[in-house]
Amino acid sequence: MTQPILVTGGAGYIGSHTCVALIESGHTPLVLDNLCNSSSESLERVRRISGVRPGFVEGDVRDAALLDRVLAEQRPQAVIHFAGLKAVGESVQQPLEYYDNNVGGTVTLLQAMQRAGLRNLIFSSSATVYGDPASVPIREDFPRSATNPYGRSKLMIEDVLGDLYRADPAWRIARLRYFNPVGAHPSGLIGEDPRGVPNNLLPYITQVAVGRLSRLRIFGGDWPTPDGTGVRDFIHVMDLAEGHVAALRHLLAHEGMFTVNLGTGQGCSVLQMVQAFERCCGRGLPYEIVQRRAGDIAECWADPAQAQRLLNWKAVRDLDTICADAWRWQQANPAGYA
Ligand code: NAD
Ligand code: UFG
Repeated sequence: MTQPILVTGGAGYIGSHTCVALIESGHTPLVLDNLCNSSSESLERVRRISGVRPGFVEGDVRDAALLDRVLAEQRPQAVIHFAGLKAVGESVQQPLEYYDNNVGGTVTLLQAMQRAGLRNLIFSSSATVYGDPASVPIREDFPRSATNPYGRSKLMIEDVLGDLYRADPAWRIARLRYFNPVGAHPSGLIGEDPRGVPNNLLPYITQVAVGRLSRLRIFGGDWPTPDGTGVRDFIHVMDLAEGHVAALRHLLAHEGMFTVNLGTGQGCSVLQMVQAFERCCGRGLPYEIVQRRAGDIAECWADPAQAQRLLNWKAVRDLDTICADAWRWQQANPAGYA
């Protein structure tokens, strides 16, 4: 029997797409998710896409006894650890929830892995650990900082992983720093399904286009960028998912710990994204330019050279593909998985 890959948070947005990429590359995902921000319907959709329904354990990464049982019974080869909370604004309101879930959950998972003698881990970090970068593109050796509890939880976990590796170099650890994951699987069967009003740009745009929201508010038209709106590195979620497969391949073949950016290396402004989406859906999007959002930065994009060199991976899907796939998902699922 092939050993599964334990995917914590695998019912969520990036996790469900990564399950598809894992199955397509011959791996067997086993999802552990408490469904606090997702629906198990995503896993049924993964089955419709790939022909394989991932194994599913409904549970919490903070449940040590459950982890001991799952690791003993299923003997996974590696863990891809997506489970966590990710809303920046909520993290400011409820910092303890974020430290408990993200930092505490990761420590509980690492302890269970240690007890089980399993030392292969891929961790979802974020470009948020670069704070407000002094320059772009951003390389992995740039200084790190955090401006909110969510970002600080990612910084802390990166440091926990670094300390663990130094204490026991038998661990193999990948710290993957995602830029802005967007888009959906080209089938339109899985995609991003945020609860309530979306915080992020692309789900907001698609909900305006489908008529769930009346107009987009663009946060700031006076940033020091070419068109005055914020610039980000939007990466197609299937490119990101394939980045995890590449990271897993590297991890299983090499000792050590590595940290890589997963981004495209291209900056795209908010207005450019709106225009690309308008082209894709064939209609104008109502928007207004309002004040800057607290905590935002002007521009952020990756230097992806390290990922290409180490993992032989690079993002290949363009902005038009991102918009077309996001739009297909939103139109087929106007209320998400509900
Ligand atoms: P998501 O909310 O869709 O997925 C996270 C999943 O984890 C959800 O299915 C949720 O139910 C589950 N979960 C949360 N806490 C859990 C717990 N204690 N035990 C078990 N399951 C739990 O989010 P996503 O966008 O897929 O993000 C996945 C990871 O990537 C997160 O760690 C996030 O911080 C990180 N990340 C996301 C982005 C982004 O913009 N989406 C950017 C950088 C990093
Ligand atoms: N924006 C708007 N209107 C909106 C939403 C967003 O104008 O309704 C703008 C923002 O001001 C920003 C850009 O669109 O300029 C992107 O904003 P997102 O909220 O989509 O993404 P962020 O870059 O702010 O942050 C995201 C995740 C973070 C993560 C970061 C880097 O939310 O958790 O990417 O990976 F840390």
